[in-house]
Amino acid sequence: MKLKPIQHTFLKRLAAFYSSEEINAFYYELIEFYFGISRINLALNPDVEVDDASKLNEALKDLEAQKPIQYIIGETEFYGLKFKVSQSVLIPRPETEELISWIINDCKDASAKINILDIGTGSGCIAVSLAKNLPNAKVYALDVSAEALKIAKQNAELNHVDIEFIEDSILDVKHSKLLSEDLKFDVIVSNPPYVRELEKELMKPNVLENEPHLALFVDNDNPLLFYKAITNFAVNKLYKNGSLFFEINEYLGQDMKALLNLNFNEVELKKDIFEKDRMIKGVLK
Ligand SMILES: C[S@@+](CC[C@H](N)C(=O)[O-])C[C@H]1O[C@@H](n2cnc3c(N)ncnc32)[C@H](O)[C@@H]1O
Repeated sequence: MKLKPIQHTFLKRLAAFYSSEEINAFYYELIEFYFGISRINLALNPDVEVDDASKLNEALKDLEAQKPIQYIIGETEFYGLKFKVSQSVLIPRPETEELISWIINDCKDASAKINILDIGTGSGCIAVSLAKNLPNAKVYALDVSAEALKIAKQNAELNHVDIEFIEDSILDVKHSKLLSEDLKFDVIVSNPPYVRELEKELMKPNVLENEPHLALFVDNDNPLLFYKAITNFAVNKLYKNGSLFFEINEYLGQDMKALLNLNFNEVELKKDIFEKDRMIKGVLK
């Protein structure tokens, strides 16, 4: 079966939802994923044929239903690494890569071993990227979702890093390791759920209908629920001068600054590439 007519079908059936650039990007990504044919090879051999195009037709139906391509193929790229994803985990976002660069830059000259904890690890994208780039770090990663932790463990294996995973809720910590006085951290990082229910209407249906709500939403009347719990935890579990890093809701930068100022020095708010308040750091007093 020739591929060219299938590309035309993609362009026609998806035109109501996506730009032609986006549709072509999906198409080429799928061809590479299912048949191992790169975009450049396809351009060089436009009449190339495949035996069975059924997977492409299935993917087209999923795209029409606005399923994100990362869930269709079950993987994505993040911080230059490959990650498996399922609908139990949030698709890692580019903004989070900026947070990771900040942490790596801060920690790269540490001569001694450092302990890092990632709270709400999801796919493990933060924990795995830090472990991969900070050979001196012992990385721990926590999530309340057993399904998310399964994926995160696969991602640690896929990327050949050793991470200690913990299943627990940061809102009600029970795990003996985390309660133990013996374990303290140099760095705690979290990208917790931070989207208020009232912001739902600003979100695209492909996010709302496919990504796990456990990873996204907080009540309108307590949007800093996770940040408050994590800062309280960090006050007890960071070494003195240890650092707390958060990804944050762009609308809550000033509230986050006020929260961190209570117990942290050198509080620094940073914008993402879209000029939105997106991450914050504090150093424990
Ligand atoms: C915004 S996602 C972040 C996922 C990943 N760290 C990333 O940056 O892409 C938030 C994560 O927090 C987890 N989570 C939600 N409630 C939690 C709780 N009470 N304790 C620990 N983790 C929780 C969710 O399962 C989800 O994986």
